[in-house]
Amino acid sequence: MQIEWHIAPISEWRADAILFFAFENAPEPLPGFRHWISEGSSWPGDAAAAALADFQWKPQQVALFYAPQGGEIPRVICTGLGPEDKFDMDKLRGAVSAAVRKCRELRLASPALPLQALEGLPVETGAALREGLMAAFSSLYHYDALKTRDTEHGEFPETLVLLAEKEPGEALREISSLAAASSMGLFLARELTILPANEATPSYLAEVAGRLSEQYDFRLEVFDLEKARSMGMGAFAAVAQGSREPARMIVLEHVPPGTGQDPPLVFIGKGITFDTGGISLKPSANLEAMKQDMAGAAAVLGAMDAIGTTGLNRRVVAILPCTENMPGGEAYKPGDVLRSLSGQTIEVISTDAEGRLILCDAITYAQSFQPALIVDIATLTGACVTALGTRVAGLMGNRDALIQKVRELGMEIGERLWPLPLFDFYFDQLKSDVADFKNVGDRTAGSIVAGMFLKQFVPDGVPWLHLDIAGTAWADKDTAATPKGATGFGARLLLELARRWPELATEA
Ligand code: BES
Ligand code: ZN
Ligand code: ZN
Repeated sequence: MQIEWHIAPISEWRADAILFFAFENAPEPLPGFRHWISEGSSWPGDAAAAALADFQWKPQQVALFYAPQGGEIPRVICTGLGPEDKFDMDKLRGAVSAAVRKCRELRLASPALPLQALEGLPVETGAALREGLMAAFSSLYHYDALKTRDTEHGEFPETLVLLAEKEPGEALREISSLAAASSMGLFLARELTILPANEATPSYLAEVAGRLSEQYDFRLEVFDLEKARSMGMGAFAAVAQGSREPARMIVLEHVPPGTGQDPPLVFIGKGITFDTGGISLKPSANLEAMKQDMAGAAAVLGAMDAIGTTGLNRRVVAILPCTENMPGGEAYKPGDVLRSLSGQTIEVISTDAEGRLILCDAITYAQSFQPALIVDIATLTGACVTALGTRVAGLMGNRDALIQKVRELGMEIGERLWPLPLFDFYFDQLKSDVADFKNVGDRTAGSIVAGMFLKQFVPDGVPWLHLDIAGTAWADKDTAATPKGATGFGARLLLELARRWPELATEA
């Protein structure tokens, strides 16, 4: 879907359908509707009033009206927002999604959203436009590339027309192009996560990184297993040594001219392209879901794509440790003691706690960039799914004020994050008799203990955030604006974090 602005007097507006919204039990949709009826559309107000009276405008309830005389805008699609006093952005996201899905069902090529359809909402028009457009893109996403039949969606709508009577101004125009760019990043993250492990291999992820580096002039370095081992990345290498599929440590860097000396933001994404558990083999039920264990790396690549398109003027480094986690004759074993890049030694208790092992070397490697911030994002623990479910990600780190701000940022964009504490005593679980620490603790507080493990690799002077997306990377059911399947969770958050870093950094 494309977005196009059309600036013209109402009488000159053209579209396959026009979208409006209404609060539950309101006599009319939001005021932009009345304005459109009375200021030059060819719709008869009385006919509209009679038809509108039949609907309650429950959340996502869609009503479709046809113009009595056809005309330049033959359809009105009005969608419910639920009760006005319970309004939040998710209601708008749900309504816009329901409306554009209706357009797809009707195979409408270019429906239109008038800017004033968003006026009368208890939120800023800019924020409503941004979240509405993101929801429109997100809810239309589908991935059919691996199907040779039964693909039914088609590319409808082709264009979402934004209608305005006068020039909307630079800020709103920027919002619409940013929504398009971040949606393409989101789609990349989803696609890579959906792609199965026989397609989305570590080398494939390196190819995608290569494509981004060509497209946006990013710096790129890719280390194979031998190189990573020779650099001292003993923890990453141990996880990788058991698989035939070659591992890759990918380092992709956005360095706008003049920022080469700036301390960068470093985004680290877990890229386990398939997690069997290794010698600590997982049970086979639902094992196919473990193709999603590279969703962190996918989110980082998605964010980098959007950073490239929007030309962000800030240095950002992506580090993606990518490998399968397989059992086999050469696989690492419980009891093995690994020497990490940091020099710290790790006793392996479970080879299924492999995510932290590949991430810890990436975190140590990040130090060489003298980062302003390190964020790692990973489908790290089943315990996070138990604690927070599938719609909220775990958020940990070493700066409370920053955690709070990132939590708020997540709420604003519809990616919910909730803080989990990293009290020092949790580290007791990781004490080892033979090495500096173990890779797993007892059965309690699993997500936090994983966070504590990672924290051992972050020096105190560097702000660090850890996002556990084990629950949120994949959705078994459709939600307001996210179709079931890979969600791309985190791609947008990382992009926004990079865009807003100066605001977030103060007092951090
Ligand atoms: N990849 C899994 C975590 C996971 C679980 C991701 C569910 C997505 C959905 C991770 O590598 C893992 O296996 N973690 C273990 C850790 C345990 C051995 C301490 C877990 O959560 O059971
Ligand atoms: Zn695992
Ligand atoms: Zn894993």
